[in-house]
Amino acid sequence: MAKVCIFDAYGTLFDVAAAARVAADEPGRDALAQVWPQIAADWRAKQLEYSWLRAVTGDYVSFWQVTQDGLDWAMERAGLSEDLELRERLLALYWELPAYKEAPFVLARLQAAGLRSAILSNGSKDMLEGAVESSGVGSFLEEVISVESVTTFKPARIVYDLVTQRMGCAVSDVLFVSSNGWDIAGAQAYGFETAWVNRNGLPVDRLMAQPAHVVADLNAIAELV
Ligand code: LAC
Repeated sequence: MAKVCIFDAYGTLFDVAAAARVAADEPGRDALAQVWPQIAADWRAKQLEYSWLRAVTGDYVSFWQVTQDGLDWAMERAGLSEDLELRERLLALYWELPAYKEAPFVLARLQAAGLRSAILSNGSKDMLEGAVESSGVGSFLEEVISVESVTTFKPARIVYDLVTQRMGCAVSDVLFVSSNGWDIAGAQAYGFETAWVNRNGLPVDRLMAQPAHVVADLNAIAELV
């Protein structure tokens, strides 16, 4: 029986596509409105790619830096790199990403059932605190654990070590929840029981290990534990 629920942040609790989607809806953003899904996808893909490459080479910079670098690549590809005001707006929105609609209810249910919940994220501490605060899930979380102290990124094993260190629990106590297939592969191979939140019906990643559970959204997590 898992007693500690560890959640990935971006894409799992927080809707990363919301920054481009919300900005595209604002007045005067016609150019973005045409291309925002491509910007959102490129931004996320490059943010992740840069984090992994920098982890492999040891050239660590913060997740906030790779988030900016990924956005710059995505905006240039879309022909929008001259729009500095848009860049600032998209980055500001990343600090106040909304939670997925079911997230607060699920976290509240876990807390009411006496379970401990926390975030383990590649995100920088400041940007995580911004999103936790603006999405209103902070009161349900015991810890917000950032990779910053180990200066590398998931799925490096040293990052998953932070869970038992910070939560004072055993590996076998943990249910690790992520919508990122690569994160689930890393966490399951590390030894955590995992639940993959497969919101988009994607195939299982061909990586180190397969998820113990596959769920469509966070609602099923309360049932699992
Ligand atoms: C996280 C991102 C990478 O660790 O999803 O929160």
